[in-house]
Amino acid sequence: MKSSLFLTVLAVAAAVNYDEVLRSPRLSVKEFHSFAVQQDRHYTTTESALRYKIFRRSMEFVNSENKQDLGWESELNFFADLTTEERGQWLGLNVSLAPTSAPASSLALSEDPLPDTVNWIAGGRVTPVKNQGSCGSCWSFGATVALEGVYAAVGGKLKNFAEQELLDCVYEKRSGCRGGWHTTCYDYSRRNNRLAITANYPYTATDSDRGACDLSSVPDGLQSAKVTGYTGVDQGENFHLQALAITPTAVAFEVTNSLHMYRSGVMKDRTCRGSVNHAVAAVGYSPTYIVVKNSWGAAWGDSGFVKMARNHHNCKLHDYVAYPTLQATSDSDTDPESVQCDYDPEANPGPTPGPDPKPDPDCRDEFEGWCRPEPAWCDKPVYFEKLCRKTCGNCVEDPTKKPDVCPSGTVRCPDGICKHEHMC
Ligand SMILES: *[C@@H]1O[C@H](CO)[C@@H](O)[C@H](O)[C@H]1NC(C)=O
Repeated sequence: MKSSLFLTVLAVAAAVNYDEVLRSPRLSVKEFHSFAVQQDRHYTTTESALRYKIFRRSMEFVNSENKQDLGWESELNFFADLTTEERGQWLGLNVSLAPTSAPASSLALSEDPLPDTVNWIAGGRVTPVKNQGSCGSCWSFGATVALEGVYAAVGGKLKNFAEQELLDCVYEKRSGCRGGWHTTCYDYSRRNNRLAITANYPYTATDSDRGACDLSSVPDGLQSAKVTGYTGVDQGENFHLQALAITPTAVAFEVTNSLHMYRSGVMKDRTCRGSVNHAVAAVGYSPTYIVVKNSWGAAWGDSGFVKMARNHHNCKLHDYVAYPTLQATSDSDTDPESVQCDYDPEANPGPTPGPDPKPDPDCRDEFEGWCRPEPAWCDKPVYFEKLCRKTCGNCVEDPTKKPDVCPSGTVRCPDGICKHEHMC
């Protein structure tokens, strides 16, 4: 880790134009110095110059974001002087490690109305925000949030489960800091019938500190409930809300520069490029946002959380949703209870968003998969409303994207073409 950071710094150092650094306004130099003190950075003169250059770029970015009435605020947090590669070490989702077979159970669409608001923090099923550090272990943190939530409900006790066991043991002979996939954690606990609590298997943000996965002296924390597998949730916001009404969920999405610099408010990110890179967890929703618990410590974002806009794709936030299924045992749980998270999503509303840009050229219907011409789904108004409505919120009126209706007397055949029914 150390040597790769050093190499990164050298590589960037070579590209720094020192004239440009020297010409920059004095004010930002002062700001960088107080930032470096505040963040406890100890840079050599050479490194300081290149870090300053990255910091200035972040400053310009944050200023331009905050000028735009986006509905959320950005700030210069600890990412402000990190290179793109260093920022990437705080992620760790690897899609190629996703299971290729469908989960044993999946959430069926319900037509029952959902609650307007769900808050599992207030419900006592969420532990305080954790910090993965610069190890690509997001997948283990996203997984434990949902596990802790389900365990609190089924096992009867809120406990911190150990990301480090997952990091050391899920991918044997391979570094867990190099990335993973959240649902593999539930397969691991089901197969091995165990997962320690953090107090018995502390997080070190490094791999295989112990050389390998050695659990001989580490007690199991899954005492009053065992993992039997996980439930997969179909893509789309409505399915996700339905899952969230049951429990906190493990999710994935794409982290962008905007997300790195997020401070507060309701985020509606339009800058994603389409590939998920980070696993997190959702722990509730309101009529306007989804509450997402990140694993970058409480100094990042809104006390470690980010609120993501409703009716928006949010960089695939609703595409890889899952939660573990647990079964109660006859044992009682002898571990100490964790303190509860005390974050209040309403405490810090953030700025009021300006009007949505219309039309949004990047707007895509995230429910497209369901909006293929399948009579069973999108031709029925109730399913159209639930599954096929636009999620960008600002391109609903795009006439080219409206669902096409077959001419009267014809129906949509399984091949997608409108024909007389007997021709299908
Ligand atoms: C993702 O995992 C696969 C399989 O282990 C590996 O070959 C690939 O290098 C990983 N990708 C990244 C970006 O680490």
